Amino acid sequence: MPKDSLTITDNRTGQRYEVPIQDGTIRAMDLRQIKASADDLGLMSYDPAYMNTASCRSAVSYIDGDQGILRYRGYPIEQLAEQSTFLETAYLLLHGELPSASELDGWVYNITHHTILHENIKKFIDGFHHDAHPMGMFVSAVAALSTFYPAAKHIADETSRRDQIFRLIAKTPTLAAFAHRHSVGMPYAYPDNDLSYTGNFLNMMFKATEVKYQPNAVLARALDVLFILHADHEQNCSTSAMRSVGSSHADPYSAMAGAAAALYGPLHGGANEEVLRMLREIGSKENIPAYIQRVKNGEVRLMGFGHRIYKNYDPRARIIKRVADEVFDVTGRNPLLEIAGELERIALQDDYFISRKLYPNVDFYSGIIYQAMRFPVEMFPVLFAIGRTPGWLAQWQEMLLDKEQKIARPRQVYIGSPQRDYVSIEKRA
Ligand code: ACO
Repeated sequence: MPKDSLTITDNRTGQRYEVPIQDGTIRAMDLRQIKASADDLGLMSYDPAYMNTASCRSAVSYIDGDQGILRYRGYPIEQLAEQSTFLETAYLLLHGELPSASELDGWVYNITHHTILHENIKKFIDGFHHDAHPMGMFVSAVAALSTFYPAAKHIADETSRRDQIFRLIAKTPTLAAFAHRHSVGMPYAYPDNDLSYTGNFLNMMFKATEVKYQPNAVLARALDVLFILHADHEQNCSTSAMRSVGSSHADPYSAMAGAAAALYGPLHGGANEEVLRMLREIGSKENIPAYIQRVKNGEVRLMGFGHRIYKNYDPRARIIKRVADEVFDVTGRNPLLEIAGELERIALQDDYFISRKLYPNVDFYSGIIYQAMRFPVEMFPVLFAIGRTPGWLAQWQEMLLDKEQKIARPRQVYIGSPQRDYVSIEKRA
């Protein structure tokens, strides 16, 4: 009779142990009973970079990396990208179900009416050097918001949590646009409540002297789809940071600043920026084979390729390619697209990439679209952060409500010196 358990024989002692298997996992704490001697702490698992460790039970998003599947709360990403809006998807991620018409109205109203920033935030952003990276400004400004909303520290209070969720989803585009306008020396443009979430973001980014900014509907929708695609991605680096900082019961602004900082890195949300730099460096299609050779020699990585989880085509990359066509109908074709397409074609036929299951990820094409929409390269990770905000918050809230969660505190395998006595400086060799 098959049993959902694992029998372990400790060859050091000859002892046998039986540990239960649930949802394809064993509990690491069940290994603690396995001891080589009475004073042994017990067996631990060693897993640098969490390659094979589930840190939580989550109902927010689901990925099957081999099949190239991504679902939010059970809904396929393709259907949400096609039929939903970013704010509706944000509601879904945070509440677990799609909203009714009146729930959606209330949700959109509340987010629309929390977009304004305290005027002092402008002074805070003014303090940055003119060439400060917008992501650096964004990370700091999200952290600074915590000082404006001291009630945010009441993380066990559902009403407080809800208010901070409204504020964070509402204010991230305003912060992002203010960071951009500071970089380019333009006056800050205030939110326009007549516009959609992404229409208003385009307004705050690009409004110049016109009395009323009219966002292009195709571009606003394309941005909405891109935000949907970025909204959650289970336990990625930045989401783990959000949960980890939040597990100490820090307020959500501080936790989200930590998440955004994790996203900044070139191996995560900074990759879309790196893709653009790489495509510019390659410059023309003739230079692609030489560049691929450098990748294979281990000199450089093909940015926008590869993923810890997807060992198949990233489903988001497929949707993005379609969005790109719609955007380029409005903006004209980005010449870098040809290089990207050819790079993808050559890489996908090359044994180096095939054998390592390296496919384009979400960042391979997103940057080309953002650039065509006139977003500066430095804004790309910030755009990613706006899209990921509902996912971070949904995961943060799930963590807080999960009775099994405690402060995140991994163990280590100590490999340093054994105990030794302090040597005074004159006696050191
Ligand atoms: N270019 C060239 N080779 C690569 C790449 C790449 N982009 N990615 C992985 N490889 C190779 C590695 O050199 C390694 O080869 P080896 O077995 O001969 O040593 C093998 O593929 C496995 O790579 P790992 O680094 O072990 O894979 P890991 O899961 O740790 O890394 C990561 C995943 C960080 C995304 C990696 O693929 C990468 O650096 N990609 C480029 C950056 C990027 O696009 N990041 C965005 C990820 S998506 C996101 O965050 C939204």
